[in-house]
Amino acid sequence: MVKEIKTIGVLTSGGDAPGMNACVRAIVRTGIAKGFRMIGVQRGYNGLINGECYEMNLRSVSNIIHRGGTVLYTARCLEFKTEEGQQKAVDRCKELGIDALVVIGGDGSFMGARALSNKGIPCVGIPGTIDNDIACSEYTIGYDTAMNTAVEMIDKLRDTTQSHDRCSVVEVMGHHAGYIALNVGIATGAMAVLLPERPFDFERDILVPMNKTQLSGKKHFIIIVSEGIVPAQELARKIQTRTGVDTRATVLGHVQRGGSPTLRDRVMASTMGYHAVDLLSIGIYNRVVAVTGGKVVDYDINVALGMHKTIDSSMIDVANTISI
Ligand code: ADP
Ligand code: F6P
Repeated sequence: MVKEIKTIGVLTSGGDAPGMNACVRAIVRTGIAKGFRMIGVQRGYNGLINGECYEMNLRSVSNIIHRGGTVLYTARCLEFKTEEGQQKAVDRCKELGIDALVVIGGDGSFMGARALSNKGIPCVGIPGTIDNDIACSEYTIGYDTAMNTAVEMIDKLRDTTQSHDRCSVVEVMGHHAGYIALNVGIATGAMAVLLPERPFDFERDILVPMNKTQLSGKKHFIIIVSEGIVPAQELARKIQTRTGVDTRATVLGHVQRGGSPTLRDRVMASTMGYHAVDLLSIGIYNRVVAVTGGKVVDYDINVALGMHKTIDSSMIDVANTISI
């Protein structure tokens, strides 16, 4: 039997993502509007274990809707993966009077939220990661901003790549998923996009399309590689050796995780934050907020963690067909 919820804690966990602040703002303001006391927990589950918390009011979340990063800070916490760590967090919630928790993060963070809910602390998860790799949701907070940042950077690279008749290999983030790479590849007119979902074949994926486009007069090439497939430097060296085309490698890296969130991220983060607190206010918990068919919905946390999603193969066809 869960006690009546009077105080809600909020934390951000795992890798940060632009829009997390807009989400925290929505959670705090919705919570206060619905009569809850709101507590900000700093540095993810680390802060929960250590009691790094403070009460938040309407003004605690002023002037953050447009800011990247997370004002609550974030962390990865190994101790929380242990039974003892989780018990410490539960004890700390009781000590601080935190009756329920909203967790903004990825699947790992939701596993933590599930562990807490199994120990009697009601939780609601909100998908926050640039990777868009949360199975239950079509959309995750930060995804749109990260892709737009990558596009902006690659447009700049295209200028210099074209001036020098070069090839640019660009590594983008995505963890084990190719959502960022595929969309960014289409949006930047890349000649090839290498995805973790498709085993890499140098001949088929690089040499054949490169030769084909050279025959029609193309002299500069953008190749997008999702992280973890092949190091960008190594691929660039191989392309140069095998084709004779002067090739450079660029790893976009953590720049993709920063910056002011786009309109889409701000609106999705605000809507999902509102939805999470609304669920708690009507006594529904141990859920993950998600987007399905463009609408904000929610799933049981166990169901959400058991779901799978795959990249849309028709998008791969689009990328391959129009890249020549
Ligand atoms: P993300 O939430 O983006 O997937 P991580 O996988 O790094 O990021 O997870 C964030 C944090 O969630 C971890 O540092 C840990 O504290 C917690 N966590 C991850 N996996 C588990 C698990 N199986 N059980 C409990 N807590 C977990
Ligand atoms: O999950 C977000 C992400 O940026 C991934 O794209 C990337 O693999 C990872 O986090 C990088 O993590 P770290 O911040 O530990 O370097």
